[in-house]
Amino acid sequence: MKNLINILDLSVEEIAELIEVADDIIANPAKYRHVCDDKILATLFFEPSTRTRLSFESAMLNLGGKVLGFSDANSSSSTKGESVADTVAVVSGYADIIAMRHPKEGAPMVAAMHSTIPVINAGDGGHYHPTQTLTDLLTIHHEKGRFDDLVIGLCGDLKFGRTVHSLIEAMSRYSGIRFVLISPEELKLPSFVKQEYIKNKNIEYVQSTSLEDVIGELDILYMTRVQRERFFNEEDYLRLKDSYILDKAKMEKAKDDMIVLHPLPRVNEISTEVDDDPRACYFRQAHYGKFIRMALIMKLLEVKV
Ligand code: NCD
Repeated sequence: MKNLINILDLSVEEIAELIEVADDIIANPAKYRHVCDDKILATLFFEPSTRTRLSFESAMLNLGGKVLGFSDANSSSSTKGESVADTVAVVSGYADIIAMRHPKEGAPMVAAMHSTIPVINAGDGGHYHPTQTLTDLLTIHHEKGRFDDLVIGLCGDLKFGRTVHSLIEAMSRYSGIRFVLISPEELKLPSFVKQEYIKNKNIEYVQSTSLEDVIGELDILYMTRVQRERFFNEEDYLRLKDSYILDKAKMEKAKDDMIVLHPLPRVNEISTEVDDDPRACYFRQAHYGKFIRMALIMKLLEVKV
């Protein structure tokens, strides 16, 4: 049985297959409408979510399956002190696959150890978010047509931004990649990502505190929200929250074919005046999330068309 805890649990070939299936689902949705007719997805969300949970649920419903779960830790027995291990051992008897989001790093891994059904990490604290990365990869595949030879700017909260960590891991396996890491000093990429996936792999990178200075070099600009819920004090958050705001003036300095991605939710970091720019891909990106999750559910449940 396979789980998806870290994006590297999938090989580059498996990712290419998932993208192929997602593209076929986009082209022929009717073919997939009943492939999970007798299957149940449990969404165990101990942290808030809009897109990830709803796209997982929509994905399963579009495959003909059913969904159950909770979207708020307060409505689960975790408030009574139940461990993740016990919750998952029980849910294994109620469903066929689990998507779990948890504020503690490593919780989905613990869940996988106690589960008899596949577990998908839907975000664990400031750690990883592999299904957002699959969504990002499907978007890059559609918008740029390649994963090699790209200059990728990651901007904002690189310290706590789990989507950034997983995306760097994933992109570090392609060739000709150059990372441009744009953040305030306090929100720099943590060494568990930088050392292992950039330095040890001899991937070219630069760090900058200024988005203006580097935007002209980028093929992809991945904007992120400052992760308020992971800060220890509100003062620091308030000081750092508007460090970068992408607006029309900055977009004028960017390449004509640069794409702007953002996992969403956006707070202030992309001005709404950028939304009409054809290079702004973040709403299309959110849409792709459903199709790649359909492909992932099918793969982990080993169902065929
Ligand atoms: C991201 C997350 O939860 O890490 N959201 C998402 O799943 N699309 C990004 C964020 O919350 O800033």
